[in-house]
Amino acid sequence: MIYKSSRPQGSKARIRAITKNFFLHFHSPKIHTYSLNPGFTLGLGVINLTLFFVLLFSGILLMIYYKPSVEQAYFSILDINNVVLGGRYLRNIHRWAAHGLVFVAMLHMSRTFYMASYSGQQRATWNLGVGLLLTTVITSFSGYLLPWDQLGFWAVTIASNILGSTREVTDALGITAFIDPGLLLKKVFLGAADVEQQALTRFYMLHIVLLPLLFFLLMGLHFWRIRKNKGLNLPQDAHDRIRCTLSIDQKDADLKTKDPLLLSWPVMLWAELAIIMTTLAILSIFALAIDAPLQEMANAAMPENPAKSPWYFLGVQELVSYSAFGGGILVPVAVIIILFAIPYIDTDDVNTGIWFSGKAGLRLTIISGLVALGINIALLVVLIEFGWLRDWIPAIPYWSLIILNPGVMLGFLFTLLAYLIYKRTKSARLAVISLYSSLLVSYTFLTIIGIWFRGPDWKFVFF
Ligand code: HEM
Repeated sequence: MIYKSSRPQGSKARIRAITKNFFLHFHSPKIHTYSLNPGFTLGLGVINLTLFFVLLFSGILLMIYYKPSVEQAYFSILDINNVVLGGRYLRNIHRWAAHGLVFVAMLHMSRTFYMASYSGQQRATWNLGVGLLLTTVITSFSGYLLPWDQLGFWAVTIASNILGSTREVTDALGITAFIDPGLLLKKVFLGAADVEQQALTRFYMLHIVLLPLLFFLLMGLHFWRIRKNKGLNLPQDAHDRIRCTLSIDQKDADLKTKDPLLLSWPVMLWAELAIIMTTLAILSIFALAIDAPLQEMANAAMPENPAKSPWYFLGVQELVSYSAFGGGILVPVAVIIILFAIPYIDTDDVNTGIWFSGKAGLRLTIISGLVALGINIALLVVLIEFGWLRDWIPAIPYWSLIILNPGVMLGFLFTLLAYLIYKRTKSARLAVISLYSSLLVSYTFLTIIGIWFRGPDWKFVFF
């Protein structure tokens, strides 16, 4: 018996087209015209995705030549740079895409934050995004050690000392003899107390297998959540807004009618291809123009001075110079908790999809940013002119240095500011805007200090 569908033929053909179309597995068949507005997403999510795939493909090719042993790793990188055809370009593109991914992921997080895209059903999307950001940073950092040069070796040595600093707490409590989390953490990540072959093997496995797999998983879930949400969190008045911003073919979306939706195929494909091509072009120019750094071969007997971590950790390293545990663990863990908590603090589902949730949010972003900048500069002046607690009270108990270090002070002041804003306005949205903006400005400020104003022995250098 021939089964006859009651559906009209056209609809059946369209469903078949959709299920067979690879592109439409990842996109809703219909999207809101406003999603295509370049000023809305800035294309940042797609740039992230492009950079990830560049990293994947260039990484697989690099693996053909790279040798993960402390005797051979450095020389295999020299070979890639100087002997392998196109090897230098390949290595450069891998390195710049890695830095680019960390940077663009931060921009994308800020875009989704300032548009309150974390609200409603996108709460999980946001939390998966925070997971993606952490995975990106750790994957990038784990690759830092692989060339086995001075740069990576000493950056990882600093990071492992920060992990070891958890001992400061057990020391202060006098229980290190019974439990030593510092040593335990070092053993887990380095396989030994110092950075040696075991560490290289572990970082290599993390870098090429475990973290990319985690990235795939989180990314799949990230997209699935967006798909479940039926696309992006749009402004409530998106329909009115498209009247003035639209530049696409008007045949697909008749603005005069009530339906602002248009078929995502193939308009979305063209928009995404444009972003992908532009990203690849810019990355290629970078890879051709600037070589990825490679210093002398790693030498445990010759410390770098100053030994600097990659740029995204320099803000943390700056705080670590005042207290390894307070600045390197306490503050970063608190910031990560705040990032995860944002959708639970601000549960309002209004004013999403518009920058800063409106004029009040923009004003508060500027004010909080300026206040945070002022506090950072004032703190810096105090530190340079007068030092910190240890210089004033040499016999100060160690635990008070952990709690009263500049990083914790900054965190406390910014939280207080956000709380006062909440008390005054009764708006959780404005409170989180203030907190995020102060943290962002502070992170940027500390990173700049770390990059340009720290010299040998981690002393301040000003021109
Ligand atoms: C690092 C890898 C990441 C990739 C590949 C990625 C990819 C994407 C893409 C393609 C979109 C849709 C288009 C767009 O909004 O630009 C998106 C949306 C979103 N992403 Fe990400 N993302 C990443 C990281 C993050 C991070 C770090 C966060 C925040 C902590 C985040 C939070 C979100 C949210 C909330 C949305 C929904 C936006 C809305 O509804 O308007 N993502 N992501």
